[in-house]
Amino acid sequence: MLKNTSDSYGWGARLFHWTMFVMIAGVVAGGNIVSDMPAGPDKTTLLGIHKSFGVVILLLAVCRLIWRLVNERPQDLGDNPLENRLGHAMHIFLYVLILEQPVIGILMSQSFGYPVVVFGMVTLPAFIEKNASIATTLINLHAATGGVIVVAVALHAAAALKHHFVEKDRTLMRMIAGR
Ligand code: HEM
Ligand code: HEM
Repeated sequence: MLKNTSDSYGWGARLFHWTMFVMIAGVVAGGNIVSDMPAGPDKTTLLGIHKSFGVVILLLAVCRLIWRLVNERPQDLGDNPLENRLGHAMHIFLYVLILEQPVIGILMSQSFGYPVVVFGMVTLPAFIEKNASIATTLINLHAATGGVIVVAVALHAAAALKHHFVEKDRTLMRMIAGR
């Protein structure tokens, strides 16, 4: 089924979840590689790919949030109210991170004076003027948020695995297979 039910995730939500997982993993790995590279044509190429996928992630995150708001949320399967509440809080936090991180990236690039060109085709309008001190703040924020994303996703994945292997419920399977 395309849409969620009170019992499980539809393929719309599952496609968003796992496609974005792969893309975010790639962009985090690529970002860490590119930030350690010396300036040159290889860095420029890899950075162009990082920035392009980052913008696509932002567009997908907006569509995913809308999809989330027009769908019902499957009921929690865990019977610990505190853990359920922490789980929801983590989902909201993850949405904030995947929306905020690409916005910081775009503003950071533009405040360094570089354009954001998506896959060599579309140039984003300049939302901010060149400004070295803002650029330095944003690059630090972008690197720190990259670390926060890794930790948050690790905790989120650990919770999913706990449901699967310790509580032996369908929390993970309904995000994978929808059943
Ligand atoms: C969800 C999307 C994104 C994630 C998870 C992400 C993550 C990262 C990470 C982890 C780094 C390495 C930071 C470091 O260790 O110094 C990085 C670097 C960078 N990111 Fe992103 N990024 C995203 C989107 C974007 C976007 C949309 C842009 C710009 C359009 C962008 C521009 C940059 C730039 C320019 C660097 C290199 C900074 C340097 O040279 O050190 N990122 N990113
Ligand atoms: C970039 C990495 C990830 C992000 C940003 C992310 C984000 C999210 C969000 C926002 C939700 C709430 C779903 C919604 O209602 O829209 C969710 C649910 C879920 N995620 Fe992830 N996730 C990531 C990686 C993972 C990984 C690696 C696993 C498993 C190993 C996982 C397992 C799950 C499960 C099982 C649910 C359903 C939880 C429930 O029914 O309460 N996620 N994820």
